[in-house]
Amino acid sequence: MQAIVMTGAGGPEVLVAREVPEPTPGAGEVVIRAEAIPVLFPETLLRSGAFPMPAEPPVTFGFEAVGTVTATGADVDTGLIGQRVAVTTLGYGSYAEYVCAPADSVTPVPDDLSAADAAAVLMSGSVALTLLDTAALTGSETVLIEAAATGVGAALTQLAKTRGAARVIATAGGPAKLAQARKLGADDLIDHNDPDWPSRLPEILGDATLDLVFDSIGGPTAAALLDAMTPLRGRVLSYGFLSGAPAQITATDLLFRGLSLTGCAGPHWLARVAAARATALHQVTSGALVPQIDTILPLDQAAEAHRALESRTPLGAVLLRP
Ligand SMILES: NC(=O)c1ccc[n+]([C@@H]2O[C@H](COP(=O)([O-])OP(=O)(O)OC[C@H]3O[C@@H](n4cnc5c(N)ncnc54)[C@H](OP(=O)(O)O)[C@@H]3O)[C@@H](O)[C@H]2O)c1
Repeated sequence: MQAIVMTGAGGPEVLVAREVPEPTPGAGEVVIRAEAIPVLFPETLLRSGAFPMPAEPPVTFGFEAVGTVTATGADVDTGLIGQRVAVTTLGYGSYAEYVCAPADSVTPVPDDLSAADAAAVLMSGSVALTLLDTAALTGSETVLIEAAATGVGAALTQLAKTRGAARVIATAGGPAKLAQARKLGADDLIDHNDPDWPSRLPEILGDATLDLVFDSIGGPTAAALLDAMTPLRGRVLSYGFLSGAPAQITATDLLFRGLSLTGCAGPHWLARVAAARATALHQVTSGALVPQIDTILPLDQAAEAHRALESRTPLGAVLLRP
């Protein structure tokens, strides 16, 4: 079968199309014939070497895939064979025609949902729902969503008002991304390509304050948001570091303003995200979440897909189709 093999850490060119043996499922595993494979921002970090790969290259790359179960291993319900599902791998192996994954990562795909739409929201939707559950918004609160045009930020922007946000302020980079954030439901917009973007908040907020910050940018700008937050009630949910570093906020910064910061990463967090995958897919069939797909490329153009994501130009998900 054709697969995309990561030959070593580096630029997109380390992702190379090769013929490899079809996987056979071990105990507790399934194999699916993949129909849609999402290309994910965290994967670009893994490929570049910013984070260690869970398996030594050369290895088939990729986190997630959507398709039809073709084989099951020992201790797995054979009734899964023929079902349309989404799977999450152990951190490698999804950029391929056939994908082996743990059976307990299987999420059934509703009949009226295409493989592409399921792949587009599997991670972004489930992370956004878990963030919104953690946020426990009251119905009258003002939220700031960073990098709101794509991925998790886009799903947050679409879902926030169904989960208790009254007003959504969104950041994005440049006019096209800002227009996309507006289309997804943002009330107010800030261009985060300006490094001094938090200074725009007082003018936008007027007498209001930020009750919740969904922080995916991190770095030094996070501290600059604190004076715009609601004393004694404001909370930061820190789930990414697009700037290259997590939010640079100290306990002292929070203490004297009565604010809180919750870390939204790590194994316990990811278990909650996994539990939200089925709900994320049902948010699409209910119409609450509309998948945003920018590009679908043939599997052998995985390197091109990574270049596209790193260019920051896509206005939605980038998918591979075997
Ligand atoms: N904790 C979790 O469970 C979890 C799960 C998934 C992802 N994440 C993290 O969440 C963040 C977003 O991931 P995603 O999958 O939703 O990404 P994504 O939206 O698919 O792509 C990244 C977006 O971030 C913006 N961006 C890229 N580099 C940036 C920079 N240096 N400064 C500011 N913005 C930048 C770009 O938008 P603009 O062009 O508008 O700047 C780009 O569209 C990442 O840090 C990722 O690692 C966390």
